[in-house]
Amino acid sequence: MNGPDDNTPGTRTRGIEDVWAGVSVVPVLTLADPSQAVPLARALARGGLPVVEITLRTGASLDALEAVAAAGFVAGAGTVTRPEQVALAAAAGARFIVAPGFSRAVAEAAAEAGLPYLPGVATATEIMRAVEAGFDRLKLFPAAQLGGVAAVKALAAPFPQVRFCPTGGIDATSCRDYLALPAVFAVGGSWTAPNAAIATGAWAHIGSLARIASGALPSREEPPMSRAP
Ligand code: 3PG
Repeated sequence: MNGPDDNTPGTRTRGIEDVWAGVSVVPVLTLADPSQAVPLARALARGGLPVVEITLRTGASLDALEAVAAAGFVAGAGTVTRPEQVALAAAAGARFIVAPGFSRAVAEAAAEAGLPYLPGVATATEIMRAVEAGFDRLKLFPAAQLGGVAAVKALAAPFPQVRFCPTGGIDATSCRDYLALPAVFAVGGSWTAPNAAIATGAWAHIGSLARIASGALPSREEPPMSRAP
């Protein structure tokens, strides 16, 4: 993707949209058992969510990431807070890096690994720092706790060049409201893969949740322009 010396504003995170390829709902998965990973990714993909973020929050994370990537799904590493995690994630087959906050060291490691980095922000000052470092695709976290759609609108207004991926506290209903905002290019969250459903292997249920979420794309709800009188 972009090299470590490429400081052109905005070039460092546009790659995330290329990797996600128009997918606007990304499940955030925290797995206790790597054997759950591929059936879970398969259920989500069948429901229309073919891109997943696997958080590096458990001992199973890298094995889960490796299994999902080897099975051909587009998987990235989330909760990447230290630069040394980037190489581990890349070796496991990660296609992108997500973090709850912004770190220059993680940004450089991601650039060296050739992976798009989606850093997290929660305030105007953090957005300014990320923009100064060349990032204009940002995770807004924790979105619901910050004030939901109203908070995204307020934080987006001074930064017309920035587009956001809100995560944190999003559900099947609110994801539609976030995706309707021009400043939002995607949303992420764990609601399509609840822990209890993962633990019991309730893949059909997860597939149903994924179908509802993937139907949240606003463009699918709008009638074609050509039919307007
Ligand atoms: C994340 O890292 O994006 C969040 O943990 C997801 O938040 P959620 O579990 O509230 O969806």
